[in-house]
Amino acid sequence: MVSANSLDPNLTEFDLSAYLEERRPQVEAALDAAVPMQYPETLYESMRYSLLAGGKRLRPILCLASCELVGGNPAVAMPTACALEMIHTMSLIHDDLPAMDNDDYRRGRLTNHKVYGDDVAILAGDALLTYAFEHVATATQGVPADRVLRVIAGLGKAVGGEGLVGGQIVDLASEGNPDTTLETLNYIHNHKTAALLEIAVTSGAILAGATDDQVQHLRDYAQRIGLAFQIVDDILDITSTAETLGKSIGKDVAAQKATYPSLWGLEESRRQADKLIDEAKAALDSFGPASQPLRAIADYIVARTY
Ligand code: IPE
Ligand code: IPE
Ligand code: MG
Ligand code: MG
Ligand code: MG
Repeated sequence: MVSANSLDPNLTEFDLSAYLEERRPQVEAALDAAVPMQYPETLYESMRYSLLAGGKRLRPILCLASCELVGGNPAVAMPTACALEMIHTMSLIHDDLPAMDNDDYRRGRLTNHKVYGDDVAILAGDALLTYAFEHVATATQGVPADRVLRVIAGLGKAVGGEGLVGGQIVDLASEGNPDTTLETLNYIHNHKTAALLEIAVTSGAILAGATDDQVQHLRDYAQRIGLAFQIVDDILDITSTAETLGKSIGKDVAAQKATYPSLWGLEESRRQADKLIDEAKAALDSFGPASQPLRAIADYIVARTY
């Protein structure tokens, strides 16, 4: 049980585990159906190998939760939720390539390129990325077209040069540079990680017809959990084990990556993450008790062990 808001006695305890246990299988089933096996089999096997390999499914769950928060039926957001996970999976497959972080394990199994080769892994990522956009456009039902267009445009911005890809290239360029500034580090984290989490949260609300004001509050929330999420990822790379994380540890120090722990140490990094989570929850105040799932997810982001 995670306390949704320990400061507000009017909010009862919210069972996040039960919530996640209900949502994850729904997302898994929708992903399985969205990317069925077909010709060319090697490509689809490789896509499904990484897409259906588990993972926290945090981005889809955030999307469904924010849709519900503003009164939408989460089913209308499921194609977007799946698209977010396809894009995220692409980013992991490419992030693990020898030309990038060169990792052998992901989600508790060998990385995509270790099983299928670099060539297939690159193409599987390409196919997941492009199919994500097709899927939002073709599978979203019962939503006015202008909302779907906003989501598609937002996804493109979150993933391209102004988003995840921009963050990844600065991440790589900063490797081995002990003089990386806090400004550059924040650019990296806000782009490579927070941008996708931001559109995960706002897209669900946009599909449900949220007001501009509501979308702005959710953006404030998402930017903070997004930065905190990467700070915690960097902490876990130092403090956790490969068994727990399902991926190699100690890689950031070995590659001399710019991280919060490398700049400020573990304790101050944890403090910064906690502060961001408090701010994120405060951004939800106007939503009242309906925001319990998003508050609990914010707490989970810093408390998580994997
Ligand atoms: C890992 O993301 C990559 C980062 C953005 C830090 P997750 O920690 O969400 O990975 P999965 O989806 O649970 O495997
Ligand atoms: C992840 O950063 C960012 C993206 C995959 C976009 P990391 O390189 O720290 O992620 P992990 O630790 O390999 O999951
Ligand atoms: Mg990386
Ligand atoms: Mg990596
Ligand atoms: Mg990492």
